[in-house]
Amino acid sequence: MAGRLKDPPLREIAIGHTTIALSYKDGKFGAISNICNHVGGPLGRGRFDGDYVVCPWHNWKFHRMTGFGEPGFEDDRVPQYELKIENGNLYINFQPVTERNKLQHAPHRLSRPVKREEGPIRVVGISTTATDSKNPRYSTSDKLLEIAIEHARTVLGAQTILIRLNDLKFRNCEGYYSKAARACTWPCSITQMDKTDELDRVYEALVHWGDVIIVSTQIRWGAASSLYYKMAERMNCIQNQITISDRVLIQNKVASFI
Ligand code: FES
Repeated sequence: MAGRLKDPPLREIAIGHTTIALSYKDGKFGAISNICNHVGGPLGRGRFDGDYVVCPWHNWKFHRMTGFGEPGFEDDRVPQYELKIENGNLYINFQPVTERNKLQHAPHRLSRPVKREEGPIRVVGISTTATDSKNPRYSTSDKLLEIAIEHARTVLGAQTILIRLNDLKFRNCEGYYSKAARACTWPCSITQMDKTDELDRVYEALVHWGDVIIVSTQIRWGAASSLYYKMAERMNCIQNQITISDRVLIQNKVASFI
């Protein structure tokens, strides 16, 4: 029986309400809780990094034998289960030998409460126009956006910022919601995992800073810019908070489109 549990080398097994990430590597079985400390990802559906199981949702790692977190986060641990092999059968004691311990991780700055401080109206311009920035071309939608932002600042006395998506490096939405609703987090899973991803400044402007959002886009083949859709898909995490947590992150704002 134990032999049949060697391949695949990492799997999730469930008995009653207990789910376990069972691993087999270098001739040894390991059994730890299947439930990741972060937001509950299924460790048994992950992959190995050495002797660590990597969570398939956001890459947190736990030692496959002890449940300890990766170096530097050892105290962030999931329960370990005792096991033994007798007469070729694998027995797992479903009373864990260690308890779950969650470390407090420093929250991402975007996760702070949304609170509008006193002050003048704030206008965010977002250009989604795609151009070759070394050899720019004239864009009517960009020009209109610049005029609108300038008008808001000089005539209406608003605070303004202008963000050009073309200048930012950011990843495509990778569909965490399609793994599981809870796998799509606020702040965005990508923003939290990838410090080089620059869409954080758009989230900051849309969720925390701006009162008025003006989005400009080129129109080609009857559709908005590819950068517009790339950004819009990354807004899934904001929308999903309503579904997952009944939490509305964007409200009492005005949006317009050029
Ligand atoms: S890393 Fe496991 S749920 Fe996020």
